[in-house]
Amino acid sequence: MSTSSRFFITGATGQLGRLVVAELARRVGPLSVTAIVRDPARAAGLFPAGVAVRAGDYDQPQTLAAALEGAERVLLISSNALGARVAQHQNVIDAAKRAGVERLAYTSVLHADTSPLGLAEEHRQTEALIADSGLPHTLLRNGWYTENYTASIPPALQHGAFIGSAAQGPISSAARADYAEAAAIALLDEQAGERVVYELAGDAAYTLTDFAAELSRQTERQIPYVDLPPADYRGVLIGAGLPAPLAELLADSDAAAAGGALFDGGRALSKLLGRPTTPFADTIAQALKG
Ligand SMILES: NC(=O)c1ccc[n+]([C@@H]2O[C@H](COP(=O)([O-])OP(=O)(O)OC[C@H]3O[C@@H](n4cnc5c(N)ncnc54)[C@H](OP(=O)(O)O)[C@@H]3O)[C@@H](O)[C@H]2O)c1
Repeated sequence: MSTSSRFFITGATGQLGRLVVAELARRVGPLSVTAIVRDPARAAGLFPAGVAVRAGDYDQPQTLAAALEGAERVLLISSNALGARVAQHQNVIDAAKRAGVERLAYTSVLHADTSPLGLAEEHRQTEALIADSGLPHTLLRNGWYTENYTASIPPALQHGAFIGSAAQGPISSAARADYAEAAAIALLDEQAGERVVYELAGDAAYTLTDFAAELSRQTERQIPYVDLPPADYRGVLIGAGLPAPLAELLADSDAAAAGGALFDGGRALSKLLGRPTTPFADTIAQALKG
């Protein structure tokens, strides 16, 4: 399989992946970019013309060997298969090593080494596997996507309250597109050292009370923030139809956020982007536009 592509993105049909592919294509041209996808049928029309598409399933190592053949710089987008991710990521890391890639980047979580978030454990283990691989690597320790909260706007409008368990914890989220652009920039960095770690988060922290106040302002309605104990919040989410593991993850993450786990004041994301991160009010406005 021959290709002129240098930059390979796994999980490319995901919400972050498609944004990274578009940003890379804009910066280096589509012919330099390969999108690795679990299901090529889902890639139809998703990427800029000229982007190569290859099949690669994190659960099937033989597909990953073929998918990464000839790759120079690879972004491993963390899987959403909670509980199965370490083994899946190991398969990608092994394939990247066998392909002899010059750099492996990985979407981790903010302060992965110390984070109390339950979901951080699989990221910690993946980071260790990447370090053990000996490959030059870039860890993109992504903070919260603001979209995690804008996804709750429809039920908040329906019920007249925005619920959560983050109390008055400060949340330094940024738009998913900010993290995607940062990933593209980091992958293109020819000067990067053997091991690069970015703690990426939004410039300005807010609380969920601030979030609900901004939502109220933009909708001209009174939508208060109602803080629930994590177990109650999890119950409400399950009652609303979320799968139990996802409800558990969201409640656990909010509880950790109450203690500051989603806060970071280092502004590494805006430094990398060369511009301010997207304010949460803009992401709310975008969500309300639909
Ligand atoms: N920072 C945050 O706030 C935050 C929030 C949510 C998630 N995350 C993490 O960031 C990642 C990317 O975020 P996102 O918004 O793009 O999530 P997403 O839309 O759920 O994307 C997850 C990607 O993982 C891929 N995937 C799962 N199992 C796979 C397999 N066996 N083989 C190949 N690909 C597989 C999915 O493939 P398909 O497209 O085929 O389904 C999808 O492309 C998530 O997976 C999660 O680890 C971070």
